[in-house]
Amino acid sequence: MRPARKWWTICTISILLIVYKTKEISRTEEHQEAQLIGNADLSSTRLMVNSSDKISGRGGPALFQHSVEGWKINSSLVLEIRKDILRFLDAEKDVSVVKSSFKPGDVIHYVLDRRRTLNISHNLHSLLPEVSPMKNRRFKTCAVVGNSGILLDSGCGNEIDSHDFVIRCNLAPLSEFAEDVGMSSDFITMNPSVIQRAYGGFKNESDREKFVQRLAMLNGSVLWIPAFMVKGGEKHVEWVNELILKNKLKVRTAYPSLRLVHAVRGYWLTNKINIKRPSTGLLMYTMATRFCDEIHLYGFWPFPKDSHGKSVKYHYYDELKYRYFSNASPHRMPLEFKTLKMLHNKGALKLTTSKCAQP
Ligand SMILES: *[C@@H]1O[C@H](CO)[C@@H](O)[C@H](O)[C@H]1NC(C)=O
Ligand SMILES: *[C@@H]1O[C@H](CO)[C@@H](O)[C@H](O)[C@H]1NC(C)=O
Ligand SMILES: *[C@@H]1O[C@H](CO)[C@@H](O)[C@H](O)[C@H]1NC(C)=O
Ligand SMILES: *[C@@H]1O[C@H](CO)[C@@H](O)[C@H](O)[C@H]1NC(C)=O
Ligand SMILES: *[C@@H]1O[C@H](CO)[C@@H](O)[C@H](O)[C@H]1NC(C)=O
Repeated sequence: MRPARKWWTICTISILLIVYKTKEISRTEEHQEAQLIGNADLSSTRLMVNSSDKISGRGGPALFQHSVEGWKINSSLVLEIRKDILRFLDAEKDVSVVKSSFKPGDVIHYVLDRRRTLNISHNLHSLLPEVSPMKNRRFKTCAVVGNSGILLDSGCGNEIDSHDFVIRCNLAPLSEFAEDVGMSSDFITMNPSVIQRAYGGFKNESDREKFVQRLAMLNGSVLWIPAFMVKGGEKHVEWVNELILKNKLKVRTAYPSLRLVHAVRGYWLTNKINIKRPSTGLLMYTMATRFCDEIHLYGFWPFPKDSHGKSVKYHYYDELKYRYFSNASPHRMPLEFKTLKMLHNKGALKLTTSKCAQP
């Protein structure tokens, strides 16, 4: 055999390898979720939603009316769902990165904006937990409280507070609304954007003071800050970290793992629920399946009207408007809601959108 021929062969193989590698790289970037699906052959019928059911603004609320009367938990279904979700994420770990995952000065890529990077600062590093704040924590019943205006006038405060573990979203105010939303909170999320929206971007001392007081109310519970999702909030996260350290605030900070959102999306995609990006509420439910035997949802209602045609605010506490059905929105809350409602009907969770019974 002549050497020239050998070289040719090697060359061809190398080119094939390069082509193959290039494909691999673009696949991992673009279709991480699809790969996850390939690795898990779940019985997708378990959560199947009839995809020919159109979800639209028109007639939405009427379609989604449902009853909490006679609702019963199906514990074996709860266990199956927990097991399925565990194939995608382990919320005990993915709920937060820990100190040992980074050192100060490490540069990471934002989860939803891979081209942009963040430097891990000393303050951020010092607030990373040593171990997961949810390690070995198990609860009989949990409440996941969304922020929909559907809570106003619900009288659900006592019922929400009666749960063993209460999860809330985006540092929502409680005291002025206690009767409807309750006061206790064991785990609360905070998007960096809330500093701009609710605390004036810390422009003056009184904004900072108000914020410090809100965090002091948390009294040792978990403050969950999605700091690694997209660029834009890093300054706010730094200010928050500084305030926590300076005022020695008693909160247990947590920062979701870099894989959490993709893993959650992968789980729901496998069940044919094609959400672009899971809402905080859906993230919380998905994670709670790891810790809670019974999950009750409140304040989830992604429609501008209630089932009687009365206006419902997007948030119970502010005047923010939201276009639930816009394609520009990163979330698909009506689709998420439809899924949660189906899970309610099967006894996997309890979804309360009506007034709560007074004791
Ligand atoms: C899905 O919904 C359509 C219309 O709403 C209905 O005709 C069809 O029978 C449903 N399919 C299943 C499998 O339930
Ligand atoms: C509970 O869920 C299991 C597993 O999905 C199912 O086989 C069973 O029929 C359900 N039980 C009731 C009472 O709905
Ligand atoms: C991040 O850190 C590197 C090295 O410490 C530095 O060169 C770079 O300017 C930093 N970037 C930002 C945005 O702070
Ligand atoms: C601080 O800013 C808030 C609005 O963000 C304003 O209501 C308040 O009056 C300001 N306080 C001072 C002392 O400037
Ligand atoms: C704060 O938490 C501690 C321990 O968890 C508890 O004993 C105390 O009553 C709480 N304080 C308030 C004001 O809730």
